[in-house]
Amino acid sequence: MKNIESKLIESRQYKPDIEFSKKSNLNPSLLKKLNSLYKNNPDEFWSSLAKKEIQWIKGFKSICTGDAPFYEWFKEGKLNISENCLDRHINKNKKAIIHIAENNQKKIISYDELYILVNNFSYALKQIGLKKGDRVVIYMPTIPESIIAMQSCARLGLIHSVVFAGFSSESLKNRINDCGAKVVITVDSFMRNGKIINSKAIVDEALINTSCPSINKCLIYKNLGTEINLNDRDLWWHEILPSKRKIVKPEAMSSEDLLFILYTSGSTGKPKGIIHSTAGYLLNCIITNKWVFDLKDNDIFWCTADIGWITGHSYVVYGPLATGATILIYDGAPTFPKPDRFWDIIEKNKVTIFYTAPTAIRTLMKLGEDLPEKYDLSSLRLLGTVGEPINPKAWIWYQLKIGNNRCPIVDTWWQTETGANMIAPIPGITHTTPGTCTQPLPGIEIGIVDEDGNDINEVNQGGNLVIKKPWPSMLRGIWGDKKRYLDTYWKKYNNNFYITGDTARKDAYGNIWIMGRSDDVVNISGHRLGTMEIESAIVSHEYVAEAAVVSYKHEIKGEAIHAFVTLKNNFINYNSVEFSGELKAWVKKKIGSIAKPERISFSDSLPKTRSGKIMRRLLRNIARGEDVTGDTSTLENESILDQLKNIL
Ligand code: WT7
Repeated sequence: MKNIESKLIESRQYKPDIEFSKKSNLNPSLLKKLNSLYKNNPDEFWSSLAKKEIQWIKGFKSICTGDAPFYEWFKEGKLNISENCLDRHINKNKKAIIHIAENNQKKIISYDELYILVNNFSYALKQIGLKKGDRVVIYMPTIPESIIAMQSCARLGLIHSVVFAGFSSESLKNRINDCGAKVVITVDSFMRNGKIINSKAIVDEALINTSCPSINKCLIYKNLGTEINLNDRDLWWHEILPSKRKIVKPEAMSSEDLLFILYTSGSTGKPKGIIHSTAGYLLNCIITNKWVFDLKDNDIFWCTADIGWITGHSYVVYGPLATGATILIYDGAPTFPKPDRFWDIIEKNKVTIFYTAPTAIRTLMKLGEDLPEKYDLSSLRLLGTVGEPINPKAWIWYQLKIGNNRCPIVDTWWQTETGANMIAPIPGITHTTPGTCTQPLPGIEIGIVDEDGNDINEVNQGGNLVIKKPWPSMLRGIWGDKKRYLDTYWKKYNNNFYITGDTARKDAYGNIWIMGRSDDVVNISGHRLGTMEIESAIVSHEYVAEAAVVSYKHEIKGEAIHAFVTLKNNFINYNSVEFSGELKAWVKKKIGSIAKPERISFSDSLPKTRSGKIMRRLLRNIARGEDVTGDTSTLENESILDQLKNIL
């Protein structure tokens, strides 16, 4: 099997800002020490970090044990994550959460207040009979109460599964049933894009008749105060709280006890319930918040991810609070009431660290390239991205318009399964180039291998991205499906490496470039190409906002490229036949004729998951004239499929 060829080389390099690393958590000499400690004594590396960063109830006796791929970390240790996030930061007069609602209402909660709120709610959860190991589904928007719910579960040793509040009742029902949750926690309703979303009504639909037999209670936080139906199983959040303040002793959890289940869509089949442990998960969350985000306790960290995604777990709820920082959460649409909402919030709240996704950056660019100029964004000192490869055009805009050429950008590669950042620059130290997530973090051993598992050593030759050694925050499996865990992540390379499902190449500087998902690789005249580079070339045209590339059968080439493109608002009336020709010539110039799309279709948007990932699988079905098959429950904009089918 041939390697994946790379055709698009980006060479703009940004030197690290030395001033930044003078004040940062990791400076070059510390980083060197960490890397050499890992090289010489990996056990000592992990054990010293675990002792330093985590507050233990009882010390651990081993580092990494167990047979591949069922690794266990820090056995015999006891700890509680809520204690690590809250108890150690009280009595310091510190803000924990700044919450901004879509209607602009602002609420500030200190660590002392959060501690009380979590203790009281933990008491209530205990009163309704929940016990260690029980599953609780949290179906709420990103408001302080969802954080309180998650932290309370952690305090009692309940396993939470947060289901993104934009999911349908069908998706919610499937997740509740898969994990056998006893309780679901929700809100009456919340606002998105100026409209009311009735979460409680959606929960009622999911629970109708006996469709979720494991559920015995539904708790409702009164958020907007809209009318709801109350059933026998329903309890108001405010009515179950204790009348007097209660302190709930944090449950002493074993290192390997499960903290949460988080469903991730996967490209085919039903969502996978990824399970994460307690100690290992917490450790990678803390160190990456400190190393990659340079998080300190005087920072105001705004990670725009919804708490329903892993980024919301690791970089909103657990990592930053365990670090004692102040987090900002915004419960609203980025474009409401106008596409300058993010910039306005950063200015008003003096956000210092901002972490978002390339899809959000591209959307905000498309709707208002110059809008950030109206705002004072000088409080920012660090920017981050996650979720997909960032195309250089978006990176440069982010760097210039948001960071004012002043802020390091950390392009962080990781997955729901990895729990925390795996490949990312260290700000102030790593040279960056738009489009690469750069290098693995200390303690993380990344490989790029061919189909037989051999290392690909040639520069810029693409292969499968794997992680060669276990790490503390690695997934512990798929809830209730051991076989799928082994088949998906381990089998191909005989349990030797963790298989990420991504393809990647390494450049001459040792920087890693993600080329796309392995399932998406296209094969043109015998050349295997990742989708990322072709898409990036298309998006670099000034009229283009977004692009997705898939292949279909072609008599001569074997496979040919079909590009799905959306244009920026001011170019949507462009003559599409003429522009198709221009765009094909553009790709030919940028990459070469091999990558020239055979067909281009233009549409208003692209099919995406609710977390903003383009669903190429559906586009492949359309380009190949097949029925759209597989799971579409995670699709955000279903109507786009009809539009795309009609264009062809
Ligand atoms: C997949 C994981 C991890 C939090 C959000 C997404 C892609 C993620 C990057 C990046 C290129 C990236 C990969 C990965 N991805 N970050 N910085 N550069 N690709 O979590 O939904 O589990 O998705 O997102 O394809 O495998 P997720």
